[in-house]
Amino acid sequence: MNHFPRRHALAALAGAALALSLTTPAFAQKKLTLGFAQVGAESEWRTANTASIKDAAAKAGINLKFSDAQQKQENQIKAIRSYIAQKVDVIAFAPVVTTGWDTVLKEAKAAKIPVVLTDRSIETSDPSLYVTMIGSDFTEEGRKAARWMLDNVKGDVVHIVELQGTVGSAPAIERKKGFEEVIAGKGSYKIIRSQTGDFTRAKGKEVMEAFLKAEGKKINVLYAHNDDMAIGAIQAIEEAGMKPGKDVIVISVDAVKGAFEAMMAGKMNVSVECNPLLGPQLMDIVKDVVAGKPLPKRINTKEGIFTADIAAKEFPNRKY
Ligand code: AHR
Repeated sequence: MNHFPRRHALAALAGAALALSLTTPAFAQKKLTLGFAQVGAESEWRTANTASIKDAAAKAGINLKFSDAQQKQENQIKAIRSYIAQKVDVIAFAPVVTTGWDTVLKEAKAAKIPVVLTDRSIETSDPSLYVTMIGSDFTEEGRKAARWMLDNVKGDVVHIVELQGTVGSAPAIERKKGFEEVIAGKGSYKIIRSQTGDFTRAKGKEVMEAFLKAEGKKINVLYAHNDDMAIGAIQAIEEAGMKPGKDVIVISVDAVKGAFEAMMAGKMNVSVECNPLLGPQLMDIVKDVVAGKPLPKRINTKEGIFTADIAAKEFPNRKY
């Protein structure tokens, strides 16, 4: 029996395998694993953000390990530790709050697992603990909200109530800061109440009820750090017999579909955009990090502002 053809075939196969291993970079041969620790499911924004990450990972061929921290920092820390133990290639997370990350991030660094921050930033004395941060400029979002108010709401005295996001979170701190920065020195604009509604509809409604009980018709403007809290508050305003969007001007952040519906119904006046569709960019970053490509320390997303008068025209274009 002649074994030549079989030997030839085996040699050709071995040659092809060698050629592939020489021409294909090592990182491209193995399916990458990304461990992602999400904040929770507190808002329409977050739901869209999670969907974007899951969808983009599947499209990019990245194996995604996903956990939902239910808005608790300790759950995120646990998830990060479990990703370290599982030796994932990259860890990404949207930090619930800004502080308290150094210990766990040092553990990731010791395990040589790069960390990417998405959506929210952290405070750390050692910026080498993460590679890059991708997300919105929350301070600018706060400034945009205040500038719109100065241009559109006039009066001898304008009484504002503020629904803050989660205490200690980057969007709550920075949206407050940006807003206050713009109204500073404008004597007629006064924040008369400010409290957290934890970025949820239920809490937004509950806190707005308390604001209305205390201040009643004195309230001219509601500034909510996200649309879900604004939507909850709109319900409270209606139940108090007032007209949201008219008696109380409603200014919010995110520009999710729910906000467009409220604007089209005349119950919300403006929503500053915060883009949750970070998935595709995150997957590119994951590949770049593993490939050792240099990345900027901060990557900002581009965003606009949407007012009630253009809501109906824009609504069909909205993706979240
Ligand atoms: O960090 C982004 C913020 O978190 C969104 O504006 C808010 O809706 C979410 O819960």
